[in-house]
Amino acid sequence: MQPGSDPVLDRALRGVRSAFQPIVEIDTGRVVAYEALARGPVGPLERPDALFAAARAAGRLAELDEACRAAAFRGAADAGLVSPLTVFVNVEPEVLDTAPLADLVAIAEGAPGDLRVVMEITERAIAARPAELLRTVERVRELGWAIAVDDVGAESMSLAFLPLLCPDVVKLDLRLVQDRPGPAIAEIMNAVNAYAERSGAVVLAEGIETEEHLVCARGLGATLGQGWLFGRPGPGADERLPVGELLLPGAGRPSGALGAVSPFACLPDGVPLRRAPKALLIELSKQLEREAMRLGETCVVAATFQEARHFTVSTTQRYRDLVERTGFVCALGEDLPVEPLPGLRGAHLDPDDPVRGEWDVAVLSPHFSAALLARDLGDEGPDLERTFEYALTYDRATVSRAAQSLLSRVAPRTADATPADSPAPRPPVPAGRPAAGLAVGTTTAEVLLRRALEATPSGVTVVDMRLPDQPIVYANEAFRQLAGLPSEEILGRNCRLLQSPDTDPGAVARIRAAVEAGQACRETVLNLRGPDRTPWFNELHLAPVHDSDGTVVQYIGVQVDVTARVEAERALVRERDRTSAALARIQELAYTDPLTGLLNRRRLEEQVEAAIWEARARGDALGLLFVDLDGFKAVNDRFGHAAGDELLQVVAGRLQQRVRRRDLLARLGGDEFLVALPDLRPETALAEATRVADELTASIRRAVPLFGTEVHVGASIGVSVCPEDGVVFADLLHRADLRMYDRKAATRGVAVRAATARAAAGSAPVPGREPVLP
Ligand code: FNR
Repeated sequence: MQPGSDPVLDRALRGVRSAFQPIVEIDTGRVVAYEALARGPVGPLERPDALFAAARAAGRLAELDEACRAAAFRGAADAGLVSPLTVFVNVEPEVLDTAPLADLVAIAEGAPGDLRVVMEITERAIAARPAELLRTVERVRELGWAIAVDDVGAESMSLAFLPLLCPDVVKLDLRLVQDRPGPAIAEIMNAVNAYAERSGAVVLAEGIETEEHLVCARGLGATLGQGWLFGRPGPGADERLPVGELLLPGAGRPSGALGAVSPFACLPDGVPLRRAPKALLIELSKQLEREAMRLGETCVVAATFQEARHFTVSTTQRYRDLVERTGFVCALGEDLPVEPLPGLRGAHLDPDDPVRGEWDVAVLSPHFSAALLARDLGDEGPDLERTFEYALTYDRATVSRAAQSLLSRVAPRTADATPADSPAPRPPVPAGRPAAGLAVGTTTAEVLLRRALEATPSGVTVVDMRLPDQPIVYANEAFRQLAGLPSEEILGRNCRLLQSPDTDPGAVARIRAAVEAGQACRETVLNLRGPDRTPWFNELHLAPVHDSDGTVVQYIGVQVDVTARVEAERALVRERDRTSAALARIQELAYTDPLTGLLNRRRLEEQVEAAIWEARARGDALGLLFVDLDGFKAVNDRFGHAAGDELLQVVAGRLQQRVRRRDLLARLGGDEFLVALPDLRPETALAEATRVADELTASIRRAVPLFGTEVHVGASIGVSVCPEDGVVFADLLHRADLRMYDRKAATRGVAVRAATARAAAGSAPVPGREPVLP
């Protein structure tokens, strides 16, 4: 049902009024205060229990609570219940911290006199929401109003909390005056009297309906009484009763924002501080725990553990016992969940909370108070040798403030976290807090599992697939280290926050596809760590988690830093590239002529052999030309080796220009070259090879510019053809070599004849002008 849609409840909420019941000074019979009691308008919701049940069921408790308080203030002002009288007004525990008080201040200011107010808190509020309760008490005191704790004794929890709430009035549960005395009543009275004696608080007995009840109330130490014997609730002051003034101790009580103060900071100036290693602090803490066990149900134990990993298996066992034996136990620390064990209250401490650096154990009960308040000195080194600065104090005020400081940090219990009348859902992941579903490890196995997760060197994350952009709802310590970020900068965000702009987009696309398909995957991505954005390689393993319908509800991610491996692999690849480049170079050197870049003889031989095989297979022919320069030696002798080398390079270039791409060209050494011509038709092979030889000869004969002049060399080329002259390289080479000599001899004959003619004509040969023969 939507809030506001029930006409009966709507009318009741509009018509809430207060009835006022007198509170009387037992000894004098004077009325000193009235308690405002809520009433609905005449009809089905007139009785307060029916009215509150209907409002709670409709999610409108806060609205009703506010209406009741406004009715109480307005009614009291209208009925003139002002100073010296006091008005007691209730605050519903479920809406404690959100209760608006400003309107009430305005009503009080408009009253015909000084409206003196005592806010009554029920003990139901104490266990569920201690931090909110303490905050409400602070707010009420800041407004100058006093505090009463109602129904004290109905449960031992309220006794344990008396020293923390410091109420001005202790309202005894009516069972105390109406039941026969027994050990339980004696225990309650012990605690109440101890508190009242020390604080000056006033004890009020409720439910006094008979003279017998009155005698009992007196016997219990009550100075104020309330009940039908003194008067029933009415619309205003009971004019028949004499009026007195209620004197309360509360005005001077300390208040202040306890949440901002750490327990260690509660130590008064001048308290001597000692130093001790962790090993001693463990023993001191255990001693305080034993004291608490002895004190039993009226005792509050509040402790801090710095980090969840210090809440060890043996600590778990001791705290389970404490939860069973004492009134209230809480354990705080980084990543400690809302309820680390059933009944044990907890909270995650933010990194900037000063309590994160402290080791505190406060034990407080009506007759005992002790606290170990220690501060980590930040030593590196073995855990057990870490040193702390500490004080062990029994001063009740200090212990109370230390315990208040810790309790003001306790998270509301998961079941109590959402007030019944606040329909708005809480944010899925409270910033800086682990997801409740993972955090609330209640069994030993769960606690162990959680501890194992925190201890593993691999990052572990859980993302919620049902929430927009799949936020991280859990990240273990290793992930925080890998990311270099605190929890509050991780939780609630998508894991891609780690990605470097240089991450392989292919890997990210594969992850996206796998997640969209609800499949597991493994990829390596480049991530950045911490504020200085140090790159690291993240080998990411993703696995889906299904619900009972098979829907993917979460993904678990495991992250491993593989930077060292990736870098080693990359170095290996670079090394391999360098090696293959070097190998290629070695091969090149082994197979080529360093001066001209042409093949060397060995390589040519290999290739010609292969070409012969191919030629024979296809029925082709192959020609081999043996080229020997004429006149090279004379150039070398006249211009030097450098010139000779240059000449050889020019010749090599010319040969290369003349042959086909698939022809093979080699320098044998000195001024000898080989040219292989594959793919010739057998019937024309010799003619074709001879034609090429002639072309090459002509090309070589062209003048070569060298050192500012021109030189001329010639060439003698012998030709052999496969298969006619042989079918192996050696035979073809031999035959071409012989023919080259034949040609050279023939050419020399021509040259000798020319020289003889020149000599006869009286002119001498000029090296470099025409081929010089050896
Ligand atoms: C991721 N993703 C992720 N990415 C990354 O760079 N580093 C990480 O550690 C993780 N961890 C991780 C854990 C889990 C459980 C899931 C499901 C995913 C991948 C990231 O969140 C996102 O899926 C990919 O970037 C692809 O999606 P977008 O960015 O294309 O939307």
